[in-house]
Amino acid sequence: MEAAAESVAIVLGARGTLGAALCAELPRAGWRIAAALGRAECDIRDEAALRALFDRLRPTAVFNAAAYTDVDRAETEPEVAFAVNATGAETVARAATAASAAIVHYSTDFVFDGELERPYDERDPPSPQGSYARSKIAGDDRVAAAAARHFIVRVGCLYGHGGRNFPSTIVRRLRAGETVRADRERLGSPTWVRDVARVSAALAGTDFHGLYHCTSQGETSWADFARFAADTLGLPPERSVGVPTSALPMKAPRPRRAILDNRALRLRGLDTLPTWQDALRAFIAEEE
Ligand SMILES: NC(=O)c1ccc[n+]([C@@H]2O[C@H](COP(=O)([O-])OP(=O)(O)OC[C@H]3O[C@@H](n4cnc5c(N)ncnc54)[C@H](OP(=O)(O)O)[C@@H]3O)[C@@H](O)[C@H]2O)c1
Repeated sequence: MEAAAESVAIVLGARGTLGAALCAELPRAGWRIAAALGRAECDIRDEAALRALFDRLRPTAVFNAAAYTDVDRAETEPEVAFAVNATGAETVARAATAASAAIVHYSTDFVFDGELERPYDERDPPSPQGSYARSKIAGDDRVAAAAARHFIVRVGCLYGHGGRNFPSTIVRRLRAGETVRADRERLGSPTWVRDVARVSAALAGTDFHGLYHCTSQGETSWADFARFAADTLGLPPERSVGVPTSALPMKAPRPRRAILDNRALRLRGLDTLPTWQDALRAFIAEEE
C-alpha cells in the first residue's frame, strides 16, 4: 500500500539500524522525508527542540526509531533508559500531537517474559523482566496516552546492514572466517529491519491506529540462526557452536521464548513479513 503523495515523514533515531532502513524504505512507499535526525541533531528528551522542528516541517507522521537499546547496561543505569524510552518517547508523542502528526513508535518482544508456550499477540498482557523492558513498556503506555493517532510497532531480534545487533554480528563474524558461539536455548524470530520499515510505511499511510506485532514468520534459536547463515554463506555448519544461555555473560534477564504473532497486521491485511529464512537469504544476497 502506498502513502498519499504528499505524506511527509520525520525520522528520529535515523542513524540507528531501523532508522537507516526507514530512511531507505519510506521514499519507496511515496513518503517525502523532511528530516532524518540522529541523536546529535535531535535528542528526543528535548521537548522544545522537537516542538520547534515539528512546527516548522509539519510532518504527516513522525517515525520514532530513537531508543536506549543497551539491554545489559540498562540494569546499571535504569534512570537513563527510562528517560529516553519512557519520558523521551512520551515527549515525541506529545510534540507530534501538538503538530497534528501521527506517531509511529517502536517497542519490543522483551515486554513479555517468554514463558508462554504459544506466540504472544497484541491482547496478551506484558510481563517485562529487566530495566530495558520496563522502560519500553512504560514508553508504549505513555505514547498511547499522549497521542490518539499512534502506531506502536513491537519488533524483536532486528538486524540490518552495518547494525550492531546480535544477528548482524553473527553474519559479519562468519564472513570474517570466525566460528561463532550462539545460544541454543533462547528462541526468537529474527527480523530484517527492511521488512519492518516497509510495513511501517504502509501502516502509517492508514488510519488503523493501535498496537502491532511485527516480526518475521517462524522461530529459531540463535545457534540455528547462525547455522542457517553459515549454510547460506556456503560455510560448514560447524562454524556455529550452540551453547546454553547460562554460558553467555548477560546482565539483564531475557525472555526464553519471545515469539510474537502479527495478529493485528494480519487482520488489517498488512502482514507481508516473510519467513526469517527468506529474509536472511535476501539480506545476505544483498550484502554480497
Ligand atoms: N535491535 C533489536 O533487536 C530490537 C528488538 C526489539 C525492539 N527494538 C526497538 O526497535 C527500535 C530501533 O532499534 P535499533 O535496533 O534500530 O536500535 P539502535 O541501532 O541502537 O538505534 C537506536 C538509535 O537511537 C539513538 N538514540 C539513543 N538515545 C537517543 C536520544 N536520547 N535521542 C535521540 N536519539 C537517541 C541512538 O543513537 P546513539 O547511537 O548515538 O546512542 C541510535 O542511533 C528501538 O525502539 C528498540 O527498542 C529493537
